[in-house]
Amino acid sequence: MSRRKATNLFIQPAATERALLVCVHWRRDGWDPQSSLAELAQLAATAGLQVVGSVVQHLPHPHPRHYVGPGKLAEIANLRDRLGYTVLLADDELSPAQLRHLEDALQVKVLDRTALVLDIFARRAQTREGRLQVELAQLTYLLPRLAGRGAWLSRLGGGIGTRGPGETKLEVDRRRIRDRITELRRALAQVERHRTLQRRGRQEADLPVVAIVGYTNAGKSTLLNALTGAGVLVEDRLFATLDPTVRRVVLPNGRPVLFVDTVGFIHKLPTHLVAAFRATLEEVVAADVLVHVVDVSHPRWRHQQQVAERVLRELGAGERPWLVAYNKIDRLDPAARQALRREAPQAVLLSATQGVGLLNLLRRVSQLLTPPLVRLHLAVPYAEAGRLAEIFARGRVMAQRYEGDAIVLDAEVPPALAARFQQDGLVRPTL
Ligand code: GTP
Repeated sequence: MSRRKATNLFIQPAATERALLVCVHWRRDGWDPQSSLAELAQLAATAGLQVVGSVVQHLPHPHPRHYVGPGKLAEIANLRDRLGYTVLLADDELSPAQLRHLEDALQVKVLDRTALVLDIFARRAQTREGRLQVELAQLTYLLPRLAGRGAWLSRLGGGIGTRGPGETKLEVDRRRIRDRITELRRALAQVERHRTLQRRGRQEADLPVVAIVGYTNAGKSTLLNALTGAGVLVEDRLFATLDPTVRRVVLPNGRPVLFVDTVGFIHKLPTHLVAAFRATLEEVVAADVLVHVVDVSHPRWRHQQQVAERVLRELGAGERPWLVAYNKIDRLDPAARQALRREAPQAVLLSATQGVGLLNLLRRVSQLLTPPLVRLHLAVPYAEAGRLAEIFARGRVMAQRYEGDAIVLDAEVPPALAARFQQDGLVRPTL
């Protein structure tokens, strides 16, 4: 198995490529083309492209052959000479035929939203699992779009397989990619088994898991940092977090929990891409509580919130207990904050960078956690003092004193641990 890093398949990291953005407005999902293009421009900048212009066309549906209509295509071709763009970037996922026809007509590299997101994922993936998932998603995307894309393939780590007699280059390339896909699936299955074991270990440790979810750039990593002082990568870039990070946090009632930071969501993220990261997002589905972080300083925050909620439902996490955390309130004026409070009294108002609202957030998390801790009066013989560590790690101790033969405690512990202490005869009747 090669240990190669996931590569940016579509965009040369060193060269500055000039991109023209194109958006066909046909959906009725609440996104206007300008906001969709603004997000595409941010994604393009994150991927290292220089955006030199944008074009919008309103159509009932994207054109099956060229994505845009013939008139718009001619306009885009004219712009090539004026703007000198080297990449055309479409706001939707293009079919293999649309991609090929556009490249033939314009003689520039054509990319779509999916390819762009995959390139960003490739740069961001840190763990082995993340890298394998990105490469698998890239190759699955590329396979049906291979014709005419020889140059990209040479970056796929050449040297694997040789051309057989009578085989065209395209057939060889397809075969190489299929072989690599099989290899990646096998490796991923292995990594996933390991991850399931890790998760089981955490469940056995009996610590509740709180997953931080939300739209990309909402402030999820910043929140985790604020809560734990953990050094998670925080950047004003999209998808800074691709692999889940887990940290232990003690709630105000003394109960320890694990917080997990997860990959950000985005609108128009094709469902097959979400599926590719399903394994990572299983952390979310398995969590006891979800904290949905929303950047309320973003002009499109309501739509971002809807997109994230839709993705969560698609992932099967719709039924989990969750709370909404409106983040970046430091950017709102007091009147806007008040309005938000009135509109959503259940939500927590937060500024992760200024540490505002953190305590409130943690209190709300403890309210959502079930079952609650069980209160016990315990007598732990000195010979078994090692068991105290378990109580301190998973529960909280209210009082502790030393008697002749035992340490006597007033403590709250998770139900499973309480049952074990009961079984072992360590529980004393409460006075
Ligand atoms: P992805 O990894 O893309 O999903 O992003 P994320 O949700 O983890 O966002 P991240 O924590 O990386 O923060 C994105 C940007 O928002 C960074 O520049 C943060 O400094 C900024 N940010 C986060 N929280 C706040 C806040 O409360 N107020 C302000 N003003 N900025 C914030």
